[in-house]
Amino acid sequence: MQNPIKDKRDHSQDPLLQVEDLSKHYVVKKNLISSKTLIKAVDNISFDIAHGETLGLIGESGSGKTTTGELILRLIPADTGRVFFQGENVLQMDEKNMRRKRKDIQIIFQQAQETLDPKVTIGEIIAAPLRIYRIVPATEIEAEVDRLLNMVGLTGKDKNKFTYQLSGGQKQRIGIARAIASRPKLVICDEPVSALDVSVQGQILNLLIDLKKELSLTYLFISHDLKVVQHICDRIAVMFKGRIVEMGDKEQIMVNPRNDYTKQLIEAML
Ligand SMILES: Nc1ncnc2c1ncn2[C@@H]1O[C@H](COP(=O)(O)OP(=O)(O)OP(=O)(O)O)[C@@H](O)[C@H]1O
Ligand SMILES: [Mg+2]
Repeated sequence: MQNPIKDKRDHSQDPLLQVEDLSKHYVVKKNLISSKTLIKAVDNISFDIAHGETLGLIGESGSGKTTTGELILRLIPADTGRVFFQGENVLQMDEKNMRRKRKDIQIIFQQAQETLDPKVTIGEIIAAPLRIYRIVPATEIEAEVDRLLNMVGLTGKDKNKFTYQLSGGQKQRIGIARAIASRPKLVICDEPVSALDVSVQGQILNLLIDLKKELSLTYLFISHDLKVVQHICDRIAVMFKGRIVEMGDKEQIMVNPRNDYTKQLIEAML
């Protein structure tokens, strides 16, 4: 069955990312005696993101948001579909080309702590992508780490610290510095503020907004929090049980939602 929600905007220039008919299903067996069930984690979704745009991907827990991000990054293999990044289908790229492409598509995770190695210094964490992708010559790595730390609101002095010495907000700033180190074009933000105190959430969101302008970034912004999405996104796609049930400009979705599930989400927020 075709997904009824397709992105029909007319782009004067090609979008940065085009996702077409993307699916990922799992067959799970809860225990030895239960029968197998099919989970349609992502079920034939299509959308695109223009250069410089922030697309919000919202939906309840288990609706398939993280799986969508992981499929785009090829952290997990897709069952079917195409993901065009700058016109090239990344799902069909060989490993060598994919490694090169990875520097252009980065991710910021919800649980920064779990993705930051506690045994190495912050300086080393941020230097790693600079080395892997050869962003600057070896002699300039230290200065570049300082520059990145300043960009995310920390200082060069922080680079000798370990992650356990940092607050939740500071850890997420390191996660952001690591993501922008390779000078990506697209950043997938997977619930980047959900694990933070409300008081810190706004600061991190504003940092992401500032960096987007400064670095001409494009975001896929995953969240279950409509308030956060409303603050940061240009357009919104609503996921429900693996499908995109509604997609449109932020104002249209917030003021004039057409889908019943979207209406429920908005009512719950008010
Ligand atoms: N490796 C896996 N094996 C089996 N089922 C999986 C696997 N990964 C994800 N799923 C299932 O796919 C569905 C979508 O999961 P996903 O993590 O993408 O949801 P989500 O929208 O990101 O949820 P949350 O808001 O809780 O982060 C869920 O039902 C989940 O249990
Ligand atoms: Mg998730």
